[in-house]
Amino acid sequence: MATTASTASADGTDPGVAALERARELTGPALRDWTGTLPPAVAGWAGYHLGLQDEAGRPPRGYRGKAVRPALVLSCAEAVGGAARDAVRAAVTVELVHNFSLLHDDVIDQDALRRHRPTVWKLFGVPAAVLTGDALLALAHRVLATASGPRTAASVAMLGRAVEELVEGEAMDVAFEQRPEITTAEYAAMATAKTGALMGAACGLGALAGGADAERAGALAEFGRHLGLAFQIVDDLLGVFGDPKTTGKPVGGDIAARKKTYPVLAALASDGAQGRTLAGLYASGAPLSDADLRWAALLVTDAGGVRAARRAVDQELEAAFAALAEAGPAPEGRRDLTALAQVLTRRNN
Ligand code: IPE
Ligand code: IPE
Ligand code: MG
Ligand code: MG
Repeated sequence: MATTASTASADGTDPGVAALERARELTGPALRDWTGTLPPAVAGWAGYHLGLQDEAGRPPRGYRGKAVRPALVLSCAEAVGGAARDAVRAAVTVELVHNFSLLHDDVIDQDALRRHRPTVWKLFGVPAAVLTGDALLALAHRVLATASGPRTAASVAMLGRAVEELVEGEAMDVAFEQRPEITTAEYAAMATAKTGALMGAACGLGALAGGADAERAGALAEFGRHLGLAFQIVDDLLGVFGDPKTTGKPVGGDIAARKKTYPVLAALASDGAQGRTLAGLYASGAPLSDADLRWAALLVTDAGGVRAARRAVDQELEAAFAALAEAGPAPEGRRDLTALAQVLTRRNN
């Protein structure tokens, strides 16, 4: 069965962890080079956001992204018999789009902290964050469009569609804050759009770069979409119960903003006193204190929200592995993608 295919490599490193490490090594220099081609007006803000420099332009103190999407791109290229190096441009592209989305998402969510550092809007202002995000999105398309190879047009179209869907998902996320009753099916549609679409595109673009036909790339994209939904539910759990020391993001912000995250929705749907109390908290427009937020987290757990969220993660992983099997991956690619999926849904950061 696919879920047991993850085994430690010869040196004992988990292949999922190794795939993330390799993605940072292979795409980091290219990401830095391409970012250097941005207009000077935004290049500094982009470098700060990407962790290439500190707020004053000096060498950074660490804390970059996990390189989840580049790792998916490279491993999917290999899963269809291609070479990771031929997919580096696609990997840089997807990471740039991801970072565009984070810059704008932090403005939308009014979050002051990301990757253990103040967010760009908080430090340099909302116009800086909006414009830097715009520039990264444009750069992503430039990187992909100038790749050689027969599948470039199909890749650019796939990327454009994924960005449109991501925007739709973000719009739904914001709209849900104002709506009292959201079903878990509506949540799944929203999270698949805001997070699954880009992870799906990462897998699809990697497959195309590795030489896959449209059908095989589609099966791998489906793997990425399910994994993206599972990943987002884990992100939701970390948003309520995570430790800012490992996540580098604030805890409790989702509840303070009355976000309809998976564990909260499952708790609200439960048939008990804790769920009803949580519903009362969510319905009150009043700002929530730190003590309220801790109480809300307890209510989510006691109403079964965490258990239900973990079940949903497992269900999405099963669906992801079924799609992976459809794609008929090469053994090493299958091992790495399976291990990556497991690492990404058991993470604490
Ligand atoms: C954060 O993504 C946004 C979500 C889709 C949940 P990551 O957790 O991959 O962010 P970085 O790049 O590692 O910071
Ligand atoms: C993640 O949004 C998806 C995008 C950025 C498009 P969230 O708001 O759930 O993610 P974090 O927790 O801020 O990273
Ligand atoms: Mg956010
Ligand atoms: Mg958000």
